Amino acid sequence: MKGHKITMLGTGLIGNFYTMTLHSQRGKDRVQTIYSRSEERAKKFASDWGIPKWETDMEKAVNDPETSVVIIGLPNNLHKEAITLAAKAGKAILCTKPLARSAREAKEILDIVEKAAVFAGYLEDLVYTPKTLKAIKSVQNGALGKVTWTRSREAHPGPHSDWFWNSEVSGGGAIVDMGCHCIEIGRNFIGKDILPVEVMCWADTLVKPINAEDNAVGLVKYATGAVSQFEVSWSYRGGMDLRDEVAGVEGTIRLDHFLRTGFELFTAVGEDGYVAEKAESETGWLFPVGDEAHALGYNHMFTDMFDAIDKGTAPMETFYDGYVVNAIMDACYKSAKTKKWEPVELEDWRGRTDVTSGIDMVEYDADHYLIKTEKLPDGRDKVILKNKNTGEISQKVTG
Ligand SMILES: NC(=O)c1ccc[n+]([C@@H]2O[C@H](COP(=O)([O-])OP(=O)(O)OC[C@H]3O[C@@H](n4cnc5c(N)ncnc54)[C@H](O)[C@@H]3O)[C@@H](O)[C@H]2O)c1
Repeated sequence: MKGHKITMLGTGLIGNFYTMTLHSQRGKDRVQTIYSRSEERAKKFASDWGIPKWETDMEKAVNDPETSVVIIGLPNNLHKEAITLAAKAGKAILCTKPLARSAREAKEILDIVEKAAVFAGYLEDLVYTPKTLKAIKSVQNGALGKVTWTRSREAHPGPHSDWFWNSEVSGGGAIVDMGCHCIEIGRNFIGKDILPVEVMCWADTLVKPINAEDNAVGLVKYATGAVSQFEVSWSYRGGMDLRDEVAGVEGTIRLDHFLRTGFELFTAVGEDGYVAEKAESETGWLFPVGDEAHALGYNHMFTDMFDAIDKGTAPMETFYDGYVVNAIMDACYKSAKTKKWEPVELEDWRGRTDVTSGIDMVEYDADHYLIKTEKLPDGRDKVILKNKNTGEISQKVTG
């Protein structure tokens, strides 16, 4: 199968990471046309990455007859405009996170691509990290039993461009920027066909002189009863903290993607400057990342996307997922204001509707349910039981 020729929109941080990923390791899918507002930047980016064409007109870049795929790496307020142009051109569309600034805008985007019947992949890289993919498989294989809780954390000293800090352009603060990752990671562990029912969220502006939240913590409650917790911060010092945890009835997973990957380096003098994304120092104890693009999931993400385009199937992350994430974030913003649990409003739910929450009782004997067993320090075994008829809690020690 031949590779695809791509129009890349945006020459900022993510345009750079995406192009680096696609053009590395002898990849066959190549950026053919790069779009930037500035001619100088477009030319430099094209020359850095061996890209044949550059454009300062977005429409022309999208309509390049040589490209079949459009990748969007522009600020959040431009996603809809870029998607509309690409859908009109009948091209496959890959859009970065968040899909939109609100569920309403995300739904409009979803309708546009579904009406145009074009391929639409949601570039949620953090569910594609090698560790996360393997962890999701373990959960799906039942290694953890029923999932009860997930935790996903993304925290760093704040984004690198002005537009992120302007909530009219970006759609919000740390929640819309990073909560979108955490929420989708939680959905993947709990099951994307499980309805997110309601959310409770705290969000505040603790450090930065902006209108939006620079810190937030949220709980998303799912139809199974599972709760998915996210923590985001734009004022966390010491680098980019990316961690996930999953708890199930039969097991637990802990993941650390960035600050403690097993690679720690001390240098008194430093070297060429860049250590890892959002690293705050160049000397002392440092936490480099072996292959950032790989560790952040970009390689597996594009492999899934381009394989799906070739096969005519849906990728693991679709625009519908982006829409659900936006709906959950809308509820978070509402809850942060009302200080109450707020329902997730999904006018278009495509998952299961037959899921209920509740405890799966474990039978101990004819009269009792088992609460738990424990090996005591002196070697004896203890069981804690509940009487089925009276509800009385008791314990039994053996050995
Ligand atoms: N892990 C991830 O998936 C990830 C990481 C970072 C950013 N992003 C997303 O990628 C998108 C871009 O973020 P970024 O970090 O690359 O930002 P950035 O500021 O580094 O780059 C933005 C690009 O858009 C261009 N741009 C800005 N305003 C424009 C306008 N009005 N018209 C046309 N072009 C304009 C800039 O010149 C630049 O090329 C955002 O949606 C962001 O949320 C995703």
